[in-house]
Amino acid sequence: MKKILFSLLLGASMLNTAMAVEGDAEAGKGKSAICATCHGATGISIAPIYPNLAGQKAPYIVKQLTDFKAGTRTDMMMAPMAVNLSEQDMADLAAYFSSQPRSGKAAAAATTDTSAVAPTAAGNVEVVTSTSAKAIYAGDVKAGQEKSGMCVACHGTDGNSAIAIYPKLAGQSANYLAKQLADFKSGARVDPVMAGMVAGLSSTDMDDLAAYFAVQTMSDGTGETSAKGKKLYFGGDVEKGVTACIACHGIEGKGMAQAGFPAIAGQNADYLKKQLLTFREGSRSNDRNNMMRNIAIKLSESDIEELVKYMSSLK
Ligand code: HEC
Ligand code: HEC
Ligand code: HEC
Repeated sequence: MKKILFSLLLGASMLNTAMAVEGDAEAGKGKSAICATCHGATGISIAPIYPNLAGQKAPYIVKQLTDFKAGTRTDMMMAPMAVNLSEQDMADLAAYFSSQPRSGKAAAAATTDTSAVAPTAAGNVEVVTSTSAKAIYAGDVKAGQEKSGMCVACHGTDGNSAIAIYPKLAGQSANYLAKQLADFKSGARVDPVMAGMVAGLSSTDMDDLAAYFAVQTMSDGTGETSAKGKKLYFGGDVEKGVTACIACHGIEGKGMAQAGFPAIAGQNADYLKKQLLTFREGSRSNDRNNMMRNIAIKLSESDIEELVKYMSSLK
């Protein structure tokens, strides 16, 4: 009995140390903008690969953040998020997310929108395309090739555009490609040239084209590298609140095919630059939850220059 009581007391005191810093939900809300890009503004995550945080126990959240920071819990996406958080930040964020409702209408709406992510198809080819969440392997590579005739003039026969202002499509996430085509068609992404190209395409055509280009191999980047760009890409900028690009575009710049996060490695420099500038000014606004706009708006002209050099130099 004494033993049980002792361990209960020990447990309680451990909890107390974990919660040594009092969290402020209001302050946490203010600090949660970066987290919202994946976990949602109210802690109901935007895609199945991210856990919900809404209504989670605060001490548990603090412990996970502490572990991500210390490296005892490892995750490529969370490590750069936690590394700069103070104990106070963690307590505030935990207070905010734990105070959010776990379920309800808003939560249900957020979690049923799985259009961003589809499971990986069997085999090693990640041809997962979906403009609709229903489609798991919607695209047909062969059919896509047959339909690609009118794309080659600008994007190259194998999706490796030779002209710097036209993006390479080869090896790009099929999910991402299909979304872009649908966005050009709906006007969510504005480009007069591409609008004309997609006007006559059905969603099957888009899935097929996406599948075809996704299985091509992207040619090596030709840009000159940049140490400053690399540093920003891997570490972000704490002072300015710039999330590290690595969190979504990956260590090698290959993106995350399932989540529809595009590959940027070896992409044409002029094209990359234009995208960062248009995200920054808001004229490209088809990124879910302002994911890219929130970041681009904090980048200076020279940050963009250096990042573009680095990304376009990747093989
Ligand atoms: C780029 C996407 C991304 C961003 C931004 C992000 N997270 Fe995460 N987070 C993840 C992923 C992915 C996991 C799951 C990691 C794993 O599989 O172990 C996770 C896990 C967590 C967990 C553990 C949840 C559990 O149930 O174990 C907590 C807590 C958390 N994140 C908090 C935060 C906070 C706070 C922020 C903002 C400072 C943040 N995250 C920003 C992607 C992200
Ligand atoms: C006349 C030249 C031209 C033709 C032909 C053309 N495109 Fe494009 N495409 C562009 C330009 C220019 C952009 C970049 C738009 C921007 O700057 O936002 C682009 C962008 C794209 C993107 C977005 C890529 C990314 O990384 O976000 C996709 C996907 C795409 N095109 C697919 C196609 C497909 C499929 C076809 C054939 C049906 C096609 N394009 C035909 C010029 C062309
Ligand atoms: C929280 C996730 C996230 C982070 C962090 C992030 N991005 Fe992105 N990025 C995206 C998503 C999602 C898109 C595609 C949006 C869409 O059109 O659907 C994108 C698109 C882009 C594009 C356009 C790609 C194309 O083919 O048109 C560029 C360039 C880019 N990001 C660069 C960066 C840079 C540089 C950083 C770091 C300073 C960064 N991103 C950080 C999620 C992220």
